[in-house]
Amino acid sequence: MAAQMTFAALVVRLDAEGSAHASVQTRTLDDLPTHDTLIRVRYSSLNYKDALSASGHRGVTRHYPHTPGIDAAGEVVSTTSAELALGQPVIVSGYDLGMNTPGGWGMFVRVPAAWVMPLPSGLTLFESMALGTAGFTAALAVQQLQRHGVAPEAGEVLVTGASGGVGSIAVALLAQLGYRVVAATGKPSLGAWLQRLGAAEVLPREAVDDRSDRPLLKGRWAGVVDTVGGNILASAIRSTRRGGCVVACGLAQSPNLSLTVYPFILRGITLQGVDSAEAPMSLRCELWARLATEWKPHLLSEIVTAVATLEQLPAYVDAMLRGETHGRVVVQLP
Ligand SMILES: NC(=O)c1ccc[n+]([C@@H]2O[C@H](COP(=O)([O-])OP(=O)(O)OC[C@H]3O[C@@H](n4cnc5c(N)ncnc54)[C@H](OP(=O)(O)O)[C@@H]3O)[C@@H](O)[C@H]2O)c1
Repeated sequence: MAAQMTFAALVVRLDAEGSAHASVQTRTLDDLPTHDTLIRVRYSSLNYKDALSASGHRGVTRHYPHTPGIDAAGEVVSTTSAELALGQPVIVSGYDLGMNTPGGWGMFVRVPAAWVMPLPSGLTLFESMALGTAGFTAALAVQQLQRHGVAPEAGEVLVTGASGGVGSIAVALLAQLGYRVVAATGKPSLGAWLQRLGAAEVLPREAVDDRSDRPLLKGRWAGVVDTVGGNILASAIRSTRRGGCVVACGLAQSPNLSLTVYPFILRGITLQGVDSAEAPMSLRCELWARLATEWKPHLLSEIVTAVATLEQLPAYVDAMLRGETHGRVVVQLP
């Protein structure tokens, strides 16, 4: 394909004050890095990390101008890898995509073949991006709960930030697997939606954000999938039953964690992290194969709350950073 061929991408620039400005621009294949595999992107998605990258967060993206998009699904256009075929439908998510490597918010990405996963049968390209990094992260969290012995019979599982991408897929997935899911959300108006996805009970965010200085609270949760960090994560750990497991996924409230060691030494609680970006390919293939079959959310179409064009994305980024999006925003490339 001619290196001068042009394509559309959302490009984020920083001004002298460090403020981010995003606009759809024309790029050439020469603008992409010199990796071995070129992919025509059909769909991407909006994740919290993308919103940080698109707003100039240097912890995610060091160099601007930049095209975000940590998720991409499309077809292989050219590759030197014997493992991939031209035209093959594939997913790329995580690694450095969309961080300092131009990401899925452009019509083409060029990446190392080692980052490329064949699209599992059972998923369309659109569905793979409806799940995206959020779905894979929810699957990692559920797998960790299972590994730590949190079976449906063990008791209730709390999901925080439940209306978000990771949160809503975790609610749906856990409910589908037979867990009694308690969803905590800052958006009480979404209670009925969360119940339709499978939440047995919906709590307001404040109910799981304990501001007392008690090191231990009444033990309620057998397991927790936390997407927000901060005092909500600390409260969840202090409210987890003996032998329970809390999976820390995110930091939408805060990256800080203030705790005593009592939940660990008096209740034997496990605090387990998950890292989707650097997950090994074998684990990706295993969990994506499940997401394409028995772990595929029955109501995936209801979890997708918007399909955005590149032009529409900046408004969704701002809304996500204000905590006003819910479910998953799929990005449709031209
Ligand atoms: N570890 C990993 O590999 C990994 C992978 C993917 C994502 N993450 C992290 O997981 C988190 C969620 O990602 P996402 O893509 O699902 O984002 P998202 O769709 O924006 O969901 C975040 C949710 O957190 C809640 N929230 C937002 N601001 C909050 C605040 N100030 N205090 C308390 N709750 C707040 C909101 O849910 P409610 O209104 O329902 O409370 C919001 O919908 C992010 O921190 C992201 O960086 C980590």
